[in-house]
Amino acid sequence: MYPFFRSLLFRLDAERAHNVGAGAARLVQAVNPGLVEPWFEYGNAALSQTLWGRSFPNPIGLAAGFDKNAKLVRFWEKVGFGFIEVGSVTAKPSKGNARPRAFRLPEDQALINRMGLNNQGAEKVARRLKRRNGIRTMPLGINIAKTPSDAILGEAAIEDFRLSFQKLAPYADYITLNISCPNTEDGKTFEEAESLDRLLRVIFAERKQVHPTVPVLVKLAPPTSTRVVYDSSVEEVVSVSLSHGVHGFIATNTSADRDILSTSEAELQRIGNGGLSGAPLFERSTHLVRYIYQRTKGQKPIIGVGGVHSAETAYAKLRAGASLVQIYTALVYEGPSLIKRIKEGLVKLLEQDGYSSVKEVVGRDT
Ligand SMILES: Cc1cc2nc3c(=O)[nH]c(=O)nc-3n(C[C@H](O)[C@H](O)[C@H](O)COP(=O)(O)O)c2cc1C
Repeated sequence: MYPFFRSLLFRLDAERAHNVGAGAARLVQAVNPGLVEPWFEYGNAALSQTLWGRSFPNPIGLAAGFDKNAKLVRFWEKVGFGFIEVGSVTAKPSKGNARPRAFRLPEDQALINRMGLNNQGAEKVARRLKRRNGIRTMPLGINIAKTPSDAILGEAAIEDFRLSFQKLAPYADYITLNISCPNTEDGKTFEEAESLDRLLRVIFAERKQVHPTVPVLVKLAPPTSTRVVYDSSVEEVVSVSLSHGVHGFIATNTSADRDILSTSEAELQRIGNGGLSGAPLFERSTHLVRYIYQRTKGQKPIIGVGGVHSAETAYAKLRAGASLVQIYTALVYEGPSLIKRIKEGLVKLLEQDGYSSVKEVVGRDT
């Protein structure tokens, strides 16, 4: 059924298509989210895991950015995800960059976006989540970022992050610090060791006050090349994070680099700046998963994201060291039935290789 919807949606600009799809999902959610459940139902004990004391029915999650304002939580629970991550949410509401700001690259099964962290702000999203608090059937991650503004820098930037954490952590099964959004004018200051150190000190102090057991994850940008074995900036981010007791990592955000694309140079020029996601990101982001797994000796769970579009690509992320994976771009191209296909395929791959649980394959290829 999705190919039919896709042919209609793909006639629209990428952001409008997203909004139409989300609107349809909201309608279903308002009427009865359970309506769609029979199409997506698939469970298998081999896929379940407990991480950070939370139980994940399967390792396939929704990546940040798809449901920035947490409007579709009850819908996502019915389409078969094992967890979802909402956001990025910022302390103040933000309109993001001027449109158009999202583009499809069908030849590459990729997207380029420069949304610029458009969202309704921590206050409003917290109120929405408060209304549904208590009805959790799967873990909910909340991704926070700095309000995009040239005027919010230095200590003010840290305070901005702290405010979001304070408002949102009470509703989260984990909090992601998005320190790697490539699409804001003021850049990605927190990937630099000293500012990350100050940020984490404040966040961990706040955590003690508002939610002492909530896991805190750090989301990184992809390496600039798949050949990188040791990258000092990545190493710094990882070691500073570990020194503060960060509970896990998300690898990776979108990439500012554009090589290895089939889309024509002229088309890329027309699109302009933005972060690349989807299939071309797969190798790079998987590479970083493997690096972090080795660096942390498998002691910190990793969420692998970037180019997952099949059971095989999800399996490869797990084998590289990810305990969980997330998808965004492939959901645009394949629709939500992909989630069930990945889960069924994963169980087959596990059986074929003689494993009885997803836990057993994590990090096998490192
Ligand atoms: C349109 C769009 C918006 C995104 N917004 C966010 C965001 O707000 N915060 C964030 O951490 N990542 C965001 N991402 C990045 C995704 O969460 C994910 O890391 C990236 O797209 C790679 O996964 P994929 O190849 O499955 O798309 C966004 C991605 C896209 C395509």
